[in-house]
Formats: sequence, C-alpha cells, structure tokens
Amino acid sequence: MIIENMTFEHLSQVLKIENESFTHPWSEESFKSELKKDSSVKIVALDNEKVLGYAVLETILDEGSLLIIAVSELHRKKGIAQALFDRLEEVRAEKKLSFITLEVRSSNESAIALYKKKGFETVAVRKGYYSSPIEDAVIMTKYYK
Ligand SMILES: CC(C)(COP(=O)(O)OP(=O)(O)OC[C@H]1O[C@@H](n2cnc3c(N)ncnc32)[C@H](O)[C@@H]1OP(=O)(O)O)[C@@H](O)C(=O)NCCC(=O)NCCS
Repeated sequence: MIIENMTFEHLSQVLKIENESFTHPWSEESFKSELKKDSSVKIVALDNEKVLGYAVLETILDEGSLLIIAVSELHRKKGIAQALFDRLEEVRAEKKLSFITLEVRSSNESAIALYKKKGFETVAVRKGYYSSPIEDAVIMTKYYK
C-alpha cells in the first residue's frame, strides 16, 4: 500500500467509500472544489490503483483541520487510517502547523479511539451540533510544540 496525493482520477472510488461511510456524505462537487484548492491536503491510500481510504486536511496559516478521514468498509482495522495519519503528520511538520483539530459525532467510537491513539484530546463538546440524527460533536485537538 502507498499513500499519494488525491487526484480527479481517484474521485469515483473516493465517492463510493464516502457514500458507504457517512449519512451526510460530501458530494462530487465538494470534492472537486476541494481538489482545486491549494490550502488543503488531500491524500489517498492505494493498493495498486485501488483506493482503500482517504483524508482531507485543511490548513490556514499554522492551523490544521481534519475535514475527513475514511477507509473502505472491506479494509478497515488493517492500519490504513493510521498510515493516512502518519502522512498527515509529515505534512504537519513540513507546514509547521501548531495544531490539528477535528470534530466527530459522539457515537463514532472507532474514530474517537483512532484519534485518541494518534494523540488527540477532547477540548470541547458542541451540544446537538449534528442533525439526522441529532447528536453532540466532540471537538478533538492535537497540539505540537
Ligand atoms: C474511523 C476509521 C477511519 C478507522 O479506519 P481504520 O483503517 O479501520 O483504522 P486503523 O485500522 O488504522 O485503526 C487505528 C486505530 O483506530 C481505532 N479503531 C479503528 N477501528 C476501530 C473499531 N471498529 N473499534 C474500536 N477502535 C477502532 C483503534 O484504536 C485502532 O488501533 P488498533 O488497531 O491498534 O486497535 C474507519 O472506521 C472509517 O472509515 N469509519 C467511517 C468513516 C468515519 O467515521 N470517519 C471519521 C469521521 S470523519
């Protein structure tokens, strides 16, 4: 498996994983506009030409926001999200980001376990932030010195 920058050629496979992973998936248009931005980092985990997972990190000055991370249902629990994170940590160092922050549904135990394992801490809870179903958002941040 290798980690590469996401391109338009990966989009159909990314959208398939996006749609199987989220109740409110990003649209094709959202990914296309993200791919045109210089201010965010988009990566995919590939096995030959097959997309196994992907992540989007937005960067503004020295701040990073993890907008999405998802792995194909068939390939979960094999360390692919960790590999994506490891690449994001390299990007973080290159861009000298002071912190990375993210928000996650409070019921998303697997994602919260992943983020804790990668050194993120809960810094706030936004009550009833998400809709369908209504749910709290847990805000998690990792600071770098
Ligand atoms: C969350 C997600 C990205 C994890 O991807 P993954 O490739 O399966 O994760 P990894 O195999 O790299 O696991 C890394 C760590 O995450 C945690 N984790 C992952 N899946 C887990 C699960 N089902 N239950 C509990 N912990 C889990 C564990 O701490 C794991 O470390 P371990 O294997 O040593 O126990 C994946 O489950 C997914 O795509 N979910 C749907 C999309 C989503 O919710 N994204 C996050 C919100 S944006």
